[in-house]
Amino acid sequence: MWYFVVPEVVFGQDALSHLAELKGKTAFIVTDKNIVNLGLIDKVKEQLAQAGIQATIFDEVEPDPSLQTVQKGVALVNQYGPDLIVAVGGGSVMDAAKAMRVEYERPDIKAEEINPFISDLGLGAKCKLVCIATTSGTGAEATFVVVLTDTADQRKLSLINREIVPDIAIVDPEMARAMPPQITADTGIDALTHAIEGYTCAWKNDFADGLCIRAIQLVFRYLPRAVRNGDDMEAREKMHNAACMAGIGFVNALTAMAHAAGHSLGAVFHTPHGRAVGLFLPYTIEFIGEVREELWAEIAYAIKLEVPQGKTAAAILAQTIRELAREIHQPVSLKEAGIPLDSFNKAMERLIDNVMADGSLIVSARIPNVAETERFFNYTYEGKSIDF
Ligand SMILES: [Fe+2]
Repeated sequence: MWYFVVPEVVFGQDALSHLAELKGKTAFIVTDKNIVNLGLIDKVKEQLAQAGIQATIFDEVEPDPSLQTVQKGVALVNQYGPDLIVAVGGGSVMDAAKAMRVEYERPDIKAEEINPFISDLGLGAKCKLVCIATTSGTGAEATFVVVLTDTADQRKLSLINREIVPDIAIVDPEMARAMPPQITADTGIDALTHAIEGYTCAWKNDFADGLCIRAIQLVFRYLPRAVRNGDDMEAREKMHNAACMAGIGFVNALTAMAHAAGHSLGAVFHTPHGRAVGLFLPYTIEFIGEVREELWAEIAYAIKLEVPQGKTAAAILAQTIRELAREIHQPVSLKEAGIPLDSFNKAMERLIDNVMADGSLIVSARIPNVAETERFFNYTYEGKSIDF
């Protein structure tokens, strides 16, 4: 048996107006300064006011949010005592809000102690969590994972528990309209990586598959348009839906080797998450290759790719992802991503260690050994297709 966990999803044009129908007296809005400056919090407050809900704002969430920021937020939430926590932002903001919510409702559990084995968290008694996505990538509005950084210890914590899933995910394309092209591309390719890894990892399942395969189709069709013209609201809406669907898909299956390699690179070179995992994606498809050939063929079929005789679906799909990356101005090798060769060589041992220790690696359909991982990194540096 297995579980499939999903929040209530409100999507499409004007989805934000769902806030005006919520019940409650006070809301604690978690966000960052950029979102405030874009005027998005005013829109949120306007809708909440229509429901008679007063709001206060915590706008101090930084990219890769720290435990320390979560603690600061928790102190304020406790003081304010809201019946709603409303996260407005990208993955960092939403993850920080999920962690704050746990500590607010369960003062006996610290955010860093969240793990899959705690049952009966009993969330929802004191407050509801509403997540409003302003990027189309992480799918964090619908997932039950939280990534936090312990700045004191210089380590990243990946925390997961089905019960921390938000109560409501609001997927309104208008909230993503202001995203600049670079972030649209970085986050969009993250969504594609979630969908493809969710569809092909060892924990894939029928429920996740349906969402993943549709998300893959939507990303190929609409991501280039959303990058080219941020005001193309049809493309924005489709990408916003795709990211949420891919989020639900991957979190109920898991992400795999492209995420393990991407996390590793990000920890050493601070490459943005989506850019890093998207760069590795075609190489991991080639590496996994025939072990998942039937699934690569299914994906190729879904996006209407021809697989000529003598070629594998893995090779054709990897090539098509690189073409998509080129179209949206993403690097397709570590060299192109601007990583200097000497720092890359110096970091090799750490890069390998990070991959080996990453939780996403265990569900990869083919797991590399140390020597293969080193070769894999060298190939990705040069932009050479994997042939081993
Ligand atoms: Fe990701």
